Amino acid sequence: MKTAIATSLEYLAQMLGDPHAQIYERLYRQHPEVQALFVLDTDGSVRGAMLQTTLETIFDYAAKGRLDSLSLGAWRSHHLAYDVNPELFTRFFFIIRDCAKAELGSAWTADMESAWIDLLLQVRASETE
Ligand code: HEM
Repeated sequence: MKTAIATSLEYLAQMLGDPHAQIYERLYRQHPEVQALFVLDTDGSVRGAMLQTTLETIFDYAAKGRLDSLSLGAWRSHHLAYDVNPELFTRFFFIIRDCAKAELGSAWTADMESAWIDLLLQVRASETE
């Protein structure tokens, strides 16, 4: 089931190449206030690394069937210094799911839906670990 997550991201990459632009557009639409946090990232490389790390966390979860909540917790705490609270931090995972679901359209499957729900529940649960 969890491999359905990896498949959804592979399709997304096939459709868009690098999904960076669409994911950050979606983030800024839903949370316009965060755009100001990235002013120093003039070449987009920090945002690139941030997306990369999040995707690696998701692929790692898909491969192992469990979330590396230790490493995720470290990133989450690190973000408090940027004024990114734990709930907002979690939102990035929802935004990636929403982007994949919107782009895949009819290629989005019931397995993808339920595998993503499991992951998002675990990411949310790890907010208080
Ligand atoms: C909507 C949620 C999030 C917001 C608003 C956010 C915001 C930020 C900000 C403001 C920076 C620093 C920008 C700069 O230095 O110019 C940053 C860096 C970074 N973020 Fe996020 N972040 C979010 C979610 C995440 C998630 C879920 C992960 C990974 C699991 C992540 C990983 C990183 C990494 C790897 C960096 C760059 C390395 C570093 O800070 O030293 N971020 N993020």
